[in-house]
Amino acid sequence: MDSDSSSLRFCSISSVFFFMFFSFTLLFSLFSLLIFVLRLKLWCKCEICQAFLNSSWTKDFDNLCDWYTHLLKKSPTGSIRIHVLGNIITADPENVEHILKTRFENYPKGKPFSALLGDLLGQGIFNVDGDSWKFQRKMASLELGSVSIRMHAFNIVESEIRSRLIPLLSSVSGKQRVLDLQDMFRRFSFDSICKFSFGFDPGCLELSLPVSKFADAFDLASKLSAQRGVVPSSLIWKAKRVLNLGSEKKLKQAIKMVDEFAQRMINQRREMGFSDKHDLLSRFMGTIDDEKYLRDIVVSFLLAGRDTVASGLTSFFWLLSQHPKVESSIREELESVMSGSSSSSDDRQFVTFDQMREMHYLHAAVCESLRLFPPVQLDSKFSQDDDVLPDYTFVTKGTRVTYHPYAMGRLERIWGSDCLEFNPERWLKNGRYVPENPYKYPVFQAGLRVCLGKEMALVEMKCVVLAIISRFNIRVADPNQKPVFTPALTATVRGGLPILVHERRA
Ligand code: HEM
Repeated sequence: MDSDSSSLRFCSISSVFFFMFFSFTLLFSLFSLLIFVLRLKLWCKCEICQAFLNSSWTKDFDNLCDWYTHLLKKSPTGSIRIHVLGNIITADPENVEHILKTRFENYPKGKPFSALLGDLLGQGIFNVDGDSWKFQRKMASLELGSVSIRMHAFNIVESEIRSRLIPLLSSVSGKQRVLDLQDMFRRFSFDSICKFSFGFDPGCLELSLPVSKFADAFDLASKLSAQRGVVPSSLIWKAKRVLNLGSEKKLKQAIKMVDEFAQRMINQRREMGFSDKHDLLSRFMGTIDDEKYLRDIVVSFLLAGRDTVASGLTSFFWLLSQHPKVESSIREELESVMSGSSSSSDDRQFVTFDQMREMHYLHAAVCESLRLFPPVQLDSKFSQDDDVLPDYTFVTKGTRVTYHPYAMGRLERIWGSDCLEFNPERWLKNGRYVPENPYKYPVFQAGLRVCLGKEMALVEMKCVVLAIISRFNIRVADPNQKPVFTPALTATVRGGLPILVHERRA
């Protein structure tokens, strides 16, 4: 047989194989699409699904979460169904308790969620269920619950405030120079969480507001991972990932940078020794050898602790700009706590950890702000089996069930007729802060998977609030600006929050 005819035969065999492969892939895709259409009821003609599909809700609402809130208010049960998304959304505290505690085992994060964030978070606590979650939760609670690590976090935050936040605000004070408060808080919380997690200082809040390649790569990776959740079918992003196209190509590159950075941190820690270090990575390195697992754990913490705090602080200062009386009350409380202090005048500019614990009004104001503007506006689980929620909503196996802290903070049936008001007093009894039922206020989630950084986040936010309002008057550049949110993992204000700063006289 000459070489021409053998190559001809080879070509025709490979064409047959290619044709078979192509037909099989096409059939498989069509079949998956059919299942997808059947499951999600894409033909659904109900008013809610139609408004969702043709985006007509945008005529009346700036934010998707405001539209959901409107629908949940109207619903007699406090739950709604978006058939085309295969999603039940609830704002009923009893349902929330059922999902997060009573039938916790039936409502894991589930595969659809972990697939979205899997490339970025790997097997980190945020992204796993079952034994791997239990193990990390146990270890992380021991670490985060310890007094020494809380003091360590407090010291990190205080030093970032002293050396960067205050100098930056002073540098723009009285100059009619507009500063984006959201950007400042994102830089602040990124520096803080990196120091806390890796013992590494990226210096994002230096006066020159430098570009950090790592912060940018991390931002891009979180944004693109979140965007996977917005496409109608996971088949689309999965196909793009296989073919290494468009957003998936960018995501891969961004994750590569995050990986390289994390690996460098781990190597450095190994070389320098970690037994006497306080950062989270060093503490985990004492018990875990697997480098990939270490990377996943730490990246989960970066995601958990960065944008959430920045988002909470941004909304807090927007609310404060609308409520000068609350600002004055916090200042009065600060003066009263500080007047009892015997420290030198320089130290007296910063409250101690114990003094801050005495500030009940401040604590109430922060909780109240998070009630109206929770950084995590909604959170979903996937039902393992058929179930019935306490409000008699039937849940079929595989359904996505979402609880909605943003809507819950705005419902009269939960918070009374003044639910839309920013009123810290609602948290106080005889001047002392009284916590609420966590299922009525699931801002930090609740139940078995409640946020592990809750205390740390509240301390961080309160430190920043005190440092700023005791030294500066912050005014929002456009007093008519209302927060409009962009779709992301955490509530992010579109266009940031431009402010003007004036130093207060002593
Ligand atoms: C205002 C700030 C914060 C808010 C509103 C918040 C809220 C939440 C929410 C809603 C969850 C559940 C997410 C889910 O399961 O999908 C969560 C989980 C978690 N948070 Fe936070 N968080 C904040 C700050 C922090 C900080 C500063 C840290 C760490 C230093 C942290 C660490 C974690 C961890 C490790 C989990 C996972 C817990 C688990 O799955 O068992 N959070 N947080």
